[in-house]
Order: sequence, then structure tokens, then C-alpha cells
Amino acid sequence: MAIYALCNQKGGVGKTTSTANLGAAFAEQEKKVLLCDLDPQGGLTTSLGFDPDSFELTMYHVFLEEAEIPQATIQTNIPGVRLVPANLDLAGAEAELLREIGWHEILPGALQAVQADYDLILLDCPPSLGIITSSALAAANTALVPLQCEYLSLRALKQLHKIIAKTRRRVNPDLDMLIFRTMFTRTSHAKEVFDEIGNIGGERVLSAYTKRTIKVADSSASGQPLLMYSSNSEVAGAYRELAQEIMNREE
Ligand SMILES: Nc1ncnc2c1ncn2[C@@H]1O[C@H](COP(=O)(O)OP(=O)(O)OP(=O)(O)O)[C@@H](O)[C@H]1O
Ligand SMILES: [Mg+2]
Repeated sequence: MAIYALCNQKGGVGKTTSTANLGAAFAEQEKKVLLCDLDPQGGLTTSLGFDPDSFELTMYHVFLEEAEIPQATIQTNIPGVRLVPANLDLAGAEAELLREIGWHEILPGALQAVQADYDLILLDCPPSLGIITSSALAAANTALVPLQCEYLSLRALKQLHKIIAKTRRRVNPDLDMLIFRTMFTRTSHAKEVFDEIGNIGGERVLSAYTKRTIKVADSSASGQPLLMYSSNSEVAGAYRELAQEIMNREE
């Protein structure tokens, strides 16, 4: 079983879209997949067609140890993919967790308990470097970092590198990191940053990448990931390639 934390403190870079579509792509390969929505905005929960406020048990209860993951898990419309939803309650968890001894062990422990049930777990982090993202990095085998091809992404990557280094030193020495590029456009600036990410990240950068397309917004409005909504589209293909590259690295 492998745990991936989709993380980048920069907002709107494709964490949630990638969590849903990679999950669907892994499931197409017969993998048993669990997605965890770790964002109080509940973007992943919404994009899979659910009302975040309709659940009695969510990630909030898992973080506060009021529920175990199986109790809060629901089946999605994607065969083979389950979800632990989130809603605004989770925003309150950060403050409550700060008072807990050993808060960074809660999520890793909760996920370890469902190891046998899944091949892959994907954690959709919020756009911040608070307690929730730190918990995800403590629990993950790999930080999976989507980067948009624009200059500010490089600054975000530097900051994230530091956090990952700290996480390795303090709680998760084996934490690995993989980078992939999202929403590529045909401008010279995007092309420059695309290459720069490749230079900085070296072998940590996956070669598949997604292009910017209006289809993605259409698909989230439909409550389905692009892999199902527009299965033959170029971006769906890109997510299948990314999933394949990630699985190849596991072997
Ligand atoms: N390849 C793409 N082409 C066009 N739009 C995209 C693409 N990928 C994602 N988007 C859109 O970009 C926006 C941000 O994507 P997404 O929500 O996945 O990012 P995020 O990193 O999870 O954001 P946040 O940090 O707010 O949680 C969404 O409106 C999404 O539909
Ligand atoms: Mg998101």
C-alpha cells in the first residue's frame, strides 16, 4: 500500500483535480483506491458530486479520533474508488489538534489501520502548510506535488522543499517527493518555467503533464472526474500516463 499526499501550499494548482483523476486512473488499473479530502473547502468531495454538509462523519472526526476511517468512508461513482469527505468542520480541527500531544501521529495511525483494504491512498491537501498538510506529509510515502508552469511556482517549490526536509528529519525519514506539471499553455513563459522545473527537479519530475483545457471545469461541474466525463480527452490521457509513471516508480 502506498500513500501519496497531493500537496502545494499555492492555491489552484490542480491538487484536487489531480487527486480525483489519478484516483480514477489507478482504479482503471484494478487498484483499490481511497481518496481523503483534507481541505475544509471540501473541493474533492464536491467535485465527486457530493454535498460536503450531508455527512455525519468526515475527516474532522478522524482527526479528532471520534471516528475511524472505515466509519467515515463512502463509495464514489467511480468503481473501485472510495472517499473520506470533508467540510468546513475541518477548519476547526487545526486549533483543536494543536492542543493534542503527538497530533502528527493521528493521521498516520488512522491510515495504517486501513492499509490492508487499499492499494493506494491519495490525500488532497489544502493550500496551506498548517497542521493538516503536515499530518499528510507525516503519513505519506510520497509528496506528490503539482506545479503550474508559472514563475511563482518555483518559489512555492523552494518553500515546500524546506518543509519536506524538516518532515524527513523529524517524523518521516523515508518521505519521497515527486513533481508533475499542470495546466501547461503554449506561451514562451510557460515553456521556460516548464523546462526550469525539469532542471530543478531532475529525476523527481514526472514526464507526463496536463495541458490547460476548458473540459476540466466542465467535468467538475458534472460531479465526475475527467477520466469518466471525457474519457478520451487529452487530459484524461495525461492522467493515465502520470498514474502509470507513478506505478512504475513503485516497482
Ligand atoms: N488541466 C486543466 N485545465 C484547465 N483547468 C484546470 C485544469 N486542472 C485544473 N483546472 C481548474 O483549475 C482550478 C484549480 O484546480 P484544483 O481545484 O484542482 O486546484 P487545487 O490546487 O486543488 O486548488 P486549491 O488550492 O484551491 O484547493 C479549478 O477550477 C479546476 O477546474
Ligand atoms: Mg483543492
